[in-house]
Amino acid sequence: MATVLLTGATGYIGSHTWLSLLAAGFQVVGVDDFSNSSPEVLKRLEALSGQQPDFVQLNVCDPVAMDALFAARRIDAVVHFAAFKAVGESTAKPLEYFQNNLGGLLNTCQAMRRHGVKRIVFSSSATVYGQPDVLPIREDARTSTTNPYGATKLMGEQMLEALAASDAEWQIACLRYFNPVGAHESGQIGEDPSGIPNNLMPYVAQVAVGRRARLQVFGSDYDTADGTGVRDYIHVVDLADGHVAALTALLRGEPSFTVNLGTGQGYSVLDVVAAYERASGRPVPYDLVPRRPGDVAACYADPATAKAKLGWVATRGLDQMCADSWRWQQQNPNGFGQPAA
Ligand code: WQD
Repeated sequence: MATVLLTGATGYIGSHTWLSLLAAGFQVVGVDDFSNSSPEVLKRLEALSGQQPDFVQLNVCDPVAMDALFAARRIDAVVHFAAFKAVGESTAKPLEYFQNNLGGLLNTCQAMRRHGVKRIVFSSSATVYGQPDVLPIREDARTSTTNPYGATKLMGEQMLEALAASDAEWQIACLRYFNPVGAHESGQIGEDPSGIPNNLMPYVAQVAVGRRARLQVFGSDYDTADGTGVRDYIHVVDLADGHVAALTALLRGEPSFTVNLGTGQGYSVLDVVAAYERASGRPVPYDLVPRRPGDVAACYADPATAKAKLGWVATRGLDQMCADSWRWQQQNPNGFGQPAA
């Protein structure tokens, strides 16, 4: 079976994809520098998979380390997750985001080319659509970005598009994630944001478990059913399975493509709060506050291309996303920092 290299392998999406790939019979090599993840993830992956993870600690911006890795293993394809991903932080630190996110992708592709590996799955984001003109959003929708993080994703796609155009041997899949949430059903791996969570569901989870007092709902005057922001939340295991489907397509010879990975169903902030209260049995008190700068009113996918091209659809609904998130939160109130007492 093919061997897949995951960069950013111990992160939230990377760790879940690692498990899905093993379950599908792939060999997996993982690399990470632990800049935004914990070595504890490797212990959890071993316990869940029954296999010792094949892992190398390195920074994808290090050409020497990447050459050594490719020289030591026969890699058939790469999934590139390694990137910083905080929108607000990217506005404060644009140079660090361009260096790490674009520099890391560039160095990875250069190492691949030196070693004759020309299949890559790129972790992109619905953020490349900016303020959508039409909903649901199709892959041919206009792209624009409103922050440096989003710019690194769009520019990453443009870099890969130019690479594919320059050499037809390259097979490149750009996966535009909508809003990944939830956790593996075991509760042993999940989203572990450092500091105050930027994203909705991890914040809601920390309110439900009592780690934070109240949720601030950013904006209640949007042109949506209940006035709060609407997003396409997708279970992280559905997202991981989307990567398996994309790799399978590339390995059977599919030429380069870009697909949305979303459910096609939008939910408001208050929908998520209600679902989380049902799943946890705990109250999630909140305050309605002004909009967060840069937010859009609504964003949800047309997932038809992924279904037609990959035979992939998301199968897990909002209640399961919340239930799986809650199990992870309860079992790991401090994330990977320390297990529940
Ligand atoms: C969702 C909704 C907020 C927090 C971002 C990135 C995207 C991807 C996912 C990396 C919005 C509201 C949130 C809170 C709230 N990241 N909200 N109170 O902004 O859609 O997407 O994260 O890949 O690229 O752009 O996700 O979870 O931050 O917000 O009311 O404390 O929840 O206004 O409507 P977003 P989010």
